[in-house]
Amino acid sequence: MKYNLDQLNTYAKRYGFIYQGSEIYGGLANTWDYGPLGVNLKNNIKSFWWKKFVSQNKLNVGIDSSILLNPKTWEATGHLSSFKDPLMDCKECKTRYRADELIKRSTNSSVDADGWDYKKMFDYIGEHKIKCPNCGASNFTDIREFNLMFKTQQGVTSDNNDVYLRPETAQGIFLNFKNILRTSRRKIPFGIGQIGKSFRNEITPGNYVFRTREFEQMELEFFCKPGTEIDWFKFWKEFSYQFLLDCGLKEDSIKFYNHSKEKLAFYSNATTDILFAYPWGYDELWGISSRTDYDLKSHQELSGENLEYLDPQTNDTYLPYVIEPSLGIERLFLAILLNNLEEEELGDNKTRTLLRINKNLAPYQVNVLPLVKKYHNELAEEVYDLLLKNFTAFYDENGNIGRRYRRADAIGTPYCITIDNQTQEDETVTVRDRDSMDQIRVKISELTDYLKKLL
Ligand code: GAP
Repeated sequence: MKYNLDQLNTYAKRYGFIYQGSEIYGGLANTWDYGPLGVNLKNNIKSFWWKKFVSQNKLNVGIDSSILLNPKTWEATGHLSSFKDPLMDCKECKTRYRADELIKRSTNSSVDADGWDYKKMFDYIGEHKIKCPNCGASNFTDIREFNLMFKTQQGVTSDNNDVYLRPETAQGIFLNFKNILRTSRRKIPFGIGQIGKSFRNEITPGNYVFRTREFEQMELEFFCKPGTEIDWFKFWKEFSYQFLLDCGLKEDSIKFYNHSKEKLAFYSNATTDILFAYPWGYDELWGISSRTDYDLKSHQELSGENLEYLDPQTNDTYLPYVIEPSLGIERLFLAILLNNLEEEELGDNKTRTLLRINKNLAPYQVNVLPLVKKYHNELAEEVYDLLLKNFTAFYDENGNIGRRYRRADAIGTPYCITIDNQTQEDETVTVRDRDSMDQIRVKISELTDYLKKLL
């Protein structure tokens, strides 16, 4: 059985992956909080990306820049003038829409209006009598521009103190390009990776955690010599695809969407989106773009700082070109759950909920269970303390053992360690495998090494 979004929401809330934000106050629209399992999974995704793209990657280094940047940053990049979406309202029920999304939705994604001018969108909606999905009327306002930047004030006086929550982590990397070049002893080609929160005042957030106003990105800006960028673009496209397979996404759920020349942003000479088969259809999981020298050039012009690179071998100076793989954590989180959560048939009309998630991403690696709390709890606590030294472990002592195994399967815990009467006699425990449900006995003294090998 495939989970739809409502079923996934129920599952995620029940087990403590994701809760609605500010729930006790009636919620705050489209905000989500990550519970004990959710935060573990998110952290595992982040640390896996960080390993693959930064700490265990010869090509790249990392950074953690601030969320608030000098507002000139957004002037230089064009975010203040053109980071806008087409807003229109239904005149009858007042529901707000992004015009291009409304067209996409009403045509089951067969028409992509992204990039159309506002007149073309408005005419299309009128000519095709597109209806308001909320009330069914075909009576919309004109389309207006809506800037997605979140504005706030910094400091105690109110004049000219406007600052913006960053809409992408990328710009903190470009602002520090020279600092990192100087201090990291790197030569071109090299990349800078960053993980952090971004904010966009989206007109139509939705599809659960897919599109939210506050989200996290994992971005790499890879700097290379002009003329080599298309080879590097292909390299990072392949590398990113392999990363998704390593996260346990299935090949037949992922596809590439290469932007045609007409669809490319004006500063890009190649862009590919990696799409995932979400319950509402294929949609963008990861954007990979060859951004030329647009960002460095814009910052160089407005700041007056020279951001050129001096090639130590040839003595040439140039502004490096950039390849940017940019991935939203929540979108990958959602894809991993959707691809790995199943109701497995066990025969005799029995089923179990099974999260067949990769072992390195599982919220808990091991679950420690005393068979009978009253008799085995003391020894089980000792085993729990031992395992906590090396693994993320969960202790579960209540309820019958079968139900506790089912719960561990449902949250994807790869191994359950059970302490029973035999443990008291020969100092062995049972190790139960999540996928095969096979059990074997292992000596407590050998347990850590045994699990290390498996995990
Ligand atoms: N620096 C380039 C950049 O930000 P983008 O295509 O606007 O490019 C990159 O965003 C990725 O960030 C997307 O592919 C998606 O995974 C994620 N993302 C963007 N907007 C989002 C939102 N409102 N909610 C959740 N994730 C989002």
